[in-house]
Amino acid sequence: MSTYAFRLDSDCNPDAAAHGRLQLVLTNTGASPVSDFVLEVTSLFRIKPGSQIEGARLIEQLSNYHKLAPEEGFVLAPGASWTITATEISHTLRHYTYGPKSAVITLKDGTKIGPEITPMTLRGERGDPVMAAPARGQLPSGEAPISVIPCPEHVDVHGRRAVDRVLMLESATDEASAAFTAVSALAERLFPGEALFGSEGIAITCVADSAIREAGYLIAFQPDAVTLSAADMAGFRYGLISLAQMLRGARQHPEDFVFPARGTISDAPRFGWRGSHLDVARQVYMIAELKAFLDTMAWNKLNRFHIHLNDDEAWRLDIPAYPGLAEKAAWRGPGEILPPLLGTPFARHGIVYRAADISELVDHGLGLGIDIVPEIDIPGHCYCVLQALPQLRDPGENELYRSIQYFPNNALNPAVEETYVFLEAVIETLVRLFPSKWIHIGGDEVPEEAWTGSPRARAMEKVEGLQGSHQLQSYFLKRVQSLLARHGKIAGAWEEGALGGGIEADGAYLVAWKKSESGRQLAEWGYDVVLAPAEHTYFDMAQSADWWEPGASWAGVVTLEACYGFDPAGDWPEAARGRLWGVQSCLWSENLCDRKLFDHLVYPRLSAVAETAWSPPARKNYSRFMAIQTLMPRAGLG
Ligand code: ACM
Repeated sequence: MSTYAFRLDSDCNPDAAAHGRLQLVLTNTGASPVSDFVLEVTSLFRIKPGSQIEGARLIEQLSNYHKLAPEEGFVLAPGASWTITATEISHTLRHYTYGPKSAVITLKDGTKIGPEITPMTLRGERGDPVMAAPARGQLPSGEAPISVIPCPEHVDVHGRRAVDRVLMLESATDEASAAFTAVSALAERLFPGEALFGSEGIAITCVADSAIREAGYLIAFQPDAVTLSAADMAGFRYGLISLAQMLRGARQHPEDFVFPARGTISDAPRFGWRGSHLDVARQVYMIAELKAFLDTMAWNKLNRFHIHLNDDEAWRLDIPAYPGLAEKAAWRGPGEILPPLLGTPFARHGIVYRAADISELVDHGLGLGIDIVPEIDIPGHCYCVLQALPQLRDPGENELYRSIQYFPNNALNPAVEETYVFLEAVIETLVRLFPSKWIHIGGDEVPEEAWTGSPRARAMEKVEGLQGSHQLQSYFLKRVQSLLARHGKIAGAWEEGALGGGIEADGAYLVAWKKSESGRQLAEWGYDVVLAPAEHTYFDMAQSADWWEPGASWAGVVTLEACYGFDPAGDWPEAARGRLWGVQSCLWSENLCDRKLFDHLVYPRLSAVAETAWSPPARKNYSRFMAIQTLMPRAGLG
């Protein structure tokens, strides 16, 4: 009986070509020679379509899926290796995570064998991926001895109380009672067995006080009583989280932190929009994983979860009027409309979110004070939509263009009328499932050459007096914005939503992601703005330049300190500042097939963004943050 086994090694030599030299080395570790085989591999690198490759033929490619075959007649003997060398790579490879993520070898008779995949080396040197969490720092002298992140606005506390007891609700309004129940359950999920809340212990009296700002709270400590005042449910929730954070810190690090005996904390968020985005298209996230992430957001007092529901690589939401869409476009694998990509196993793999899944997620968010803001990314990033619904293409389209991620002809066409029929059905579903006031409609990274080969788009330019892809995109986004307005919804878009005339500023907000400065420009043009500059708040960026640090680095390296150091609107003129809604992080999931990376990429940078979004700039202090951040929860995925 023959036995087949393979190992796939890979290496990058950055000095050998403009974007480095990439080598894939397939070793036959089995007992049988093989010939007439093909290798399929998914990765974060992309070999340029049509480029020269040494040792192999690239017989199929889509974005970062590659199918490679050796030269005719090649035999890979047991113990021998087959080396493939490519120098025309899409972008410079900077971390081991750019390497192969999943692969399969298919033999002449159809047998498929998954090779062992080793992490991609740099100039042949092996190493160990960096996964360590940042160490705890010491609390700087002069800082209040309380372990609260985000840092409260005003703190004036003294003394310490014993912390061997739980927090107990003494008397409360209905809102405060509901907040107590929700925060106790949250604490039990995040810190099981730590006994932070209960029915006998440190008595908390909750008082409604309409003079307190929205989502703010006031805690008054006395040696035998704690009073928590707030004007709304959010204020009670945040006050209780702060109390529990103080209790945990005082228990775990009594050398630095106390549960105060006297004094006050008065606090309210700097921004109303304190968000976190997650791309659930590139990878499969179970609803339970998303709920675990929301729990950690809530502990950081974040209140907007921007869920990126589609991309070129998948469409996740079931749209009842178009049942074939998710049925096809939520799945990748052999024989599907999408090949395996970004680590997908070589078998059918995906997930569809149906109404019941979304309700479960939305309810979980609402219970934690988190609005779930859905994003449907249009008109670009729609490769799989157009594969599943080819009737949305202009049949006369006669030019090939590629997106930055190398997807061919991936933009919905503003001149195909059925596009709007389809989007009405999508919006009807979104409105039914998501109570959020905001629906994000993407607008990012549409290739400049999109629609140049579309006779219908050309004709529309003439009729509507438009010119070029930006103006066509502006026409498209405005039409979608008006569909949303009919349902009373505000349209969100990435900053490219301002191109070519843009969407209407009234009834829209834009997320500035390219540079810290781009948000200021948008605000000066009259748009409401959420800031998510990649160089500070993109969690998919690696945290150092080390090859063995996981992540990407097309926007540079985002160290914890750089993330924390973001100063939103620091240099904005006063008039523009009123347009700034807040701040959010983004996590694009290209590397998250390895779910173990999630915590490393997200925490404690999530807490750094939360502090930027909540605390007055003058209250921020990186050393104090470093002394507290180890107490913050992680989702524990993977
Ligand atoms: C984006 O990062 N393409 C919004």
